[in-house]
Amino acid sequence: MSISRVGEITKDIIDAIDKICKKHQVTHGEYRKAIDFIGEAIDKGERSLLFDAFLEANVVASDPSKSSGTSPQVLGPFYLPDMPWVENNSLAKNNEPGERITLNGRVLNRNKETLGNAELDFWQADAKGRYSNFDPGVADGNLRGKTKADADGAFLLHTVRPAQYTIPDQGPTGLLLSEIGRHSWRPAHFHVIVRHPGYKMLTTQIYFEGDEYLSSDAVRAASSDLAFPIVSKEEGASLNFDLVLESR
Ligand code: BEZ
Ligand code: FE
Repeated sequence: MSISRVGEITKDIIDAIDKICKKHQVTHGEYRKAIDFIGEAIDKGERSLLFDAFLEANVVASDPSKSSGTSPQVLGPFYLPDMPWVENNSLAKNNEPGERITLNGRVLNRNKETLGNAELDFWQADAKGRYSNFDPGVADGNLRGKTKADADGAFLLHTVRPAQYTIPDQGPTGLLLSEIGRHSWRPAHFHVIVRHPGYKMLTTQIYFEGDEYLSSDAVRAASSDLAFPIVSKEEGASLNFDLVLESR
C-alpha cells in the first residue's frame, strides 16, 4: 500500500469523522471513551474480532481485486494458517461429536472447466459452535485442515455439521453489537480458502439453506447464493457445491 494511498484514505476518514462529530455534537469525554473502548477491546484479545465483526464485510464488498467466481466472504478472526493436510478425506476425527456430513463438489474456473489439484483450506466450528484454539475445551487444531481436489477438480471431505454460534459477545465487541441493536448469532457455516496457481485466492464460506440467521448474520457476511441444501441419501448426508475461481 503506497504512502499516497494511505494519505488519501486517511483524509477521507478524517472528513467522515468530522461530519459525524458535528452531526452528533460529540464531546471530549466521549472521544476519550471511544479511545479507551478500542484499547480495552485490544487488551481483551478482541482486536480482530472487533474490526472483522463491524467492518470486514464492507471491505470484502469494496475490494476491486476480489475473486469474481464464487462470492468471497470474510476471513474472520478464527483462521489459523499452516494447518496439516487431512487424512482419509476426514476433517473430523472418528470420535468427533455431531451429525456427520460430507462436503463434495468441484473446483472450476469461470468457464466451468475443472481445475485439478486445487488446495482447500477448511476450518469450522464444532457441533456446539466452538472453534479450536479459541474456545476452551476443544483440542488445538480440531476441525481445521487442508485437502486437495483430485486431478479432475473434485473434492470430498467428511466432517460434522457445525452449529450456529454467537460470536464472542461478553466483551466490548458484544456490547457494541447490542448497542446498535444487532444480535450476535452467525448462521452455521464452513470456512474455506481455495488456492490454485494462476488463479486468485478465494476466501469464502458455505452455509445451509434455510438457516434462520442467513438474513440477520451478526457480521453481515452471509449470502443466500452460498447456502446449499443438505442432501440425505442412504450413505449419509452431504452438502454439494462447486467453488469457482477467477484467473489472475
Ligand atoms: C467467523 O465466522 O468466524 C467470524 C467472522 C467475523 C467475525 C467473527 C467471526
Ligand atoms: Fe466462523
